[in-house]
Amino acid sequence: MSRITITAALPYTNGPIHIGHLAGVYVPADIYARFLRLQGHDVAFICGSDEHGVPITIKAKKEGVSPQDIVDKYHAIIEKSFVDFGISFDNYSRTSAPIHHKTAADFFKTLYDKGEFIEEVTEQLYDAEANQFLADRFIIGTCPKCGYEESYGDQCENCGTSHNATDLINPKSAITGATPSLKETRHWFLPLDKHEAFLREWILEGHKKDWKPNVYGQVKSWIDDGLRPRAVTRDLDWGIKVPVEGAEGKVLYVWFDAPIGYISSTKEWAEREGIDWEPYWKDKDTKLYHFIGKDNIVFHCIIFPAMLKAEGSYILPENVPANEFLNLEGNKLSTSRNWAVWLHEYLNEFPQKQDVLRYVLTANAPETKDNDFTWKDFQARNNNELVAIFGNFINRVVVLTHKYFDGRVPKPQDLLNVDKETLENVKHYPKIISKSIERFRFREASQELMNLARLGNKYLADEEPWKVIKEDESRVQTIMYIALQIAAALAILSEPFLPFTSNKLKSILGESKLDSDWSWQGITEGRELLSVGHVIEKGELLFSKIENAEVDQQLAKLEASKKANEAANSKVDPQKEEISWNDFSKLDIRVGTILDAKKIPKTKKLLALKVDTGIDVRTIVSGIAESFSADEVVGKKVTVLVNLAPRELRGIESQGMILMAEDEAGKLVFVNPDEHSKLVNGLPIS
Ligand code: 2FM
Ligand code: ZN
Repeated sequence: MSRITITAALPYTNGPIHIGHLAGVYVPADIYARFLRLQGHDVAFICGSDEHGVPITIKAKKEGVSPQDIVDKYHAIIEKSFVDFGISFDNYSRTSAPIHHKTAADFFKTLYDKGEFIEEVTEQLYDAEANQFLADRFIIGTCPKCGYEESYGDQCENCGTSHNATDLINPKSAITGATPSLKETRHWFLPLDKHEAFLREWILEGHKKDWKPNVYGQVKSWIDDGLRPRAVTRDLDWGIKVPVEGAEGKVLYVWFDAPIGYISSTKEWAEREGIDWEPYWKDKDTKLYHFIGKDNIVFHCIIFPAMLKAEGSYILPENVPANEFLNLEGNKLSTSRNWAVWLHEYLNEFPQKQDVLRYVLTANAPETKDNDFTWKDFQARNNNELVAIFGNFINRVVVLTHKYFDGRVPKPQDLLNVDKETLENVKHYPKIISKSIERFRFREASQELMNLARLGNKYLADEEPWKVIKEDESRVQTIMYIALQIAAALAILSEPFLPFTSNKLKSILGESKLDSDWSWQGITEGRELLSVGHVIEKGELLFSKIENAEVDQQLAKLEASKKANEAANSKVDPQKEEISWNDFSKLDIRVGTILDAKKIPKTKKLLALKVDTGIDVRTIVSGIAESFSADEVVGKKVTVLVNLAPRELRGIESQGMILMAEDEAGKLVFVNPDEHSKLVNGLPIS
């Protein structure tokens, strides 16, 4: 048994979490943690909310509330999503917790006292209008490495490079849009260059083979480019106060405090459990794994290890299995553009279907390259795999066992070759699945699990107990006995991937009434999982079909997001020049009635109207023929501008203007207060 510390990236509490977070970090981390616990290891699975940093301050500004309000709101939403989706953290903390403030401040102080920082007054970007220094997401400019024009001050989201704000080309304040000036300020820098040799040896030489190529490659390119000192303090007011003299008004850089959050969350957990936290971070035999998305690689593979090494008493990560990004229907997931599937909304729309999402996100995980989530694929994986293979197999086993043997596990008779081979095959699955999980190949592992269900399905389809029962009940006893053992193996092996389904299946199979050891090892050794005479429940169906209409509804929701974005980004024609009351009062507008209407030949749009204005009857040419026929407008009450200078159209003098508007659906309607209460755009047409 080993001691294993697993961390999952602390999510920023500036919004809820979506499928990208789940696919990239939390589902793989959870599969790994559950798997290791099932193998009997001593696991600490640690996470918490990342509540400092500029993203929180920006969100608070946008919503006109305090940063504390923002973090309280989203911490609660995020924590609930994790519980709802069965992410089995041993502890979920938050970086605003006092234990974290103390741990992070102490960590800083230790490095400070050891002389591990460079203290320097340098010129930093400053927004005179907003009266503040611009760090991290408060500043946007062109990335010096890849040329992306929207790079943040500390990291480019396009190429992942981490840099200093002063490296940006053409920087602009994200607060006021102003070009910043330079102003002197004192900060503490972690000299990464000093740790370069150690990082090179530890990662580039030590982990060439076992780290994922995407992670190794990124780290190598950063180290090869040369590492430079990085400021770990900021001139901000939201964060952890820098615990040294002369640092008033300064806080720790969020990427200095956040990873220490893993340590403080472990402390919080250990305190609650009454155990010692230190072995989970300091014992040389403990293995540490960081599950993250690719944008966090530099922080977990270079900066945090350099901090841990500088402190001196901590272990370093064994592996950092970072994932690439998940896209949604061909576009990058985006919180601000609402291009996302939010976990809390998903559960309202697909209640009880947590495992379906877990499965689809695992089967299609962005492990080696960015991947796309589509609702059609979600539907297909559910209907063709979970329902048609896994669910169908279990349903057949349960129904047939009840139909032929009153729910009792029947006594097997002589085993044929096919039976022996099938039982032998089942024994290999724990190893096959373990191997994939141990190499962080969760997609592959989930497909192997499905292959076991396929094997069960095929066995039943080939042996056809529903036909054999007519002439040979004893043969059916054997078939159902074997099928039941496969069902039990599925209940055990599916737990890391489909925890809710695994529990349901275990209760259908009556696990609580068994004394047998339901372990992965038990399957490998070919132990009997369900013994003869044991009674199983009838239970409910494990999965249900997802209909086209449900998927269409999700696509329509995304389409609406797209439209809303387009509308928000579209350039509206500038408003015309302001007019005075005096100008407006010159308009003589009256309610009139259309007495007669004729289409003007050889035109598409024009009707010649005879209108009773109350003061006279006059001719008005109106461009409404594409929306109304001549016949249907006769008798209509309309609003008329009567003192508009006459103008000739197609040889007819038009003496005024009929005022029109658009309704909510964009349809042209007459401005007639008796009929329409909700006009949208006033639109004079003449
Ligand atoms: O990228 C993010 O969402 C960060 N909040 C991740 C922090 S991970 C850790 F180091 F705390
Ligand atoms: Zn870049």
